[in-house]
Amino acid sequence: MKNFISVHDVSNINSLVKKALSYKAHPFKDRNLGADKRIGLLFLNPSLRTRLSTQVAAKNLGMEAIVFNVDKEGWALEFEEGAIMSGNTVEHVKDAAPILGQYFDILCIRTFPGLKNREDDYSEMFIHQFIKYAGVPVISLESATLHPLQSLTDIITIQETWTLPRRPRIVLTWAPHIKPLPQCVSNSFAQWVNAWGEADFVITHPVDYELAEQFTKGAMITHNQDEALKDADYVYVKNWSTYTDYGKVYENDPSWMLTDEKMKLTNQAKVMHCLPVRRNVELSDEILDGPHSLVTREAGNRVWAAQAVIASILEQSKS
Ligand code: CP
Repeated sequence: MKNFISVHDVSNINSLVKKALSYKAHPFKDRNLGADKRIGLLFLNPSLRTRLSTQVAAKNLGMEAIVFNVDKEGWALEFEEGAIMSGNTVEHVKDAAPILGQYFDILCIRTFPGLKNREDDYSEMFIHQFIKYAGVPVISLESATLHPLQSLTDIITIQETWTLPRRPRIVLTWAPHIKPLPQCVSNSFAQWVNAWGEADFVITHPVDYELAEQFTKGAMITHNQDEALKDADYVYVKNWSTYTDYGKVYENDPSWMLTDEKMKLTNQAKVMHCLPVRRNVELSDEILDGPHSLVTREAGNRVWAAQAVIASILEQSKS
């Protein structure tokens, strides 16, 4: 693996899941793989799980991890080619990234979309500029449109909890939220479940909340949440803002929030969410604190997903 910015960087999802679960069983089995190597974690946005799980994963592989909160501690970065930098930005990514590439063996970056201009966000300019100029492997810690470490974690969590000899029915459901949120987690989950291809996959959301077809193609899509939930084995809950009329909140209908009553439609489904979650807005206390919730296990698995990805990149760079 050269970089890790989407499912397209993975040659075999099941092998990567297996690798992650082997690290879950034996966290320190490759404690020397990253000896004398350094990984840089650049954050342009807040994070709890991604920041800490990636550091733990790197440490398990013997790497030194350095976190840099670029948004708070760094110079304001410019990403536009040919920009006349007479505004607020101080340093161009084409100057900063090659320097970071000299300090680190692997560079990890988290950026969020601006949610103002869809073409800008969906061009993934920030992460592509780092790949272009850093000269070392780049791992996405969540980008403008995707969150691949989260999605790998989600497939790991599904695989390790699924015991029946048939395909699981996985439902991605939109949930209410007070703010316009990115589509990254939902895009990425759809992209990975479709690429994995070992589940019946349904997406449900209100009218006008369609996600980009490039990620959802292959899923059954319905505006009827009850119909979607019927016989579900896994319910993945996530809010996202509108894609077509980009970055808006059209709908905040609380009836879209998953409750124990709605769960009766499912096949005693397990409930997943990437976190952070706004309790009793996106997901009810009764679900989050109840026996169906996988959210803590899911967040714990972030370490093994990150460790499998970092190890794959280290192995490739050694070969
Ligand atoms: N799920 C996730 O990426 O969490 P953080 O934003 O806390 O990293």
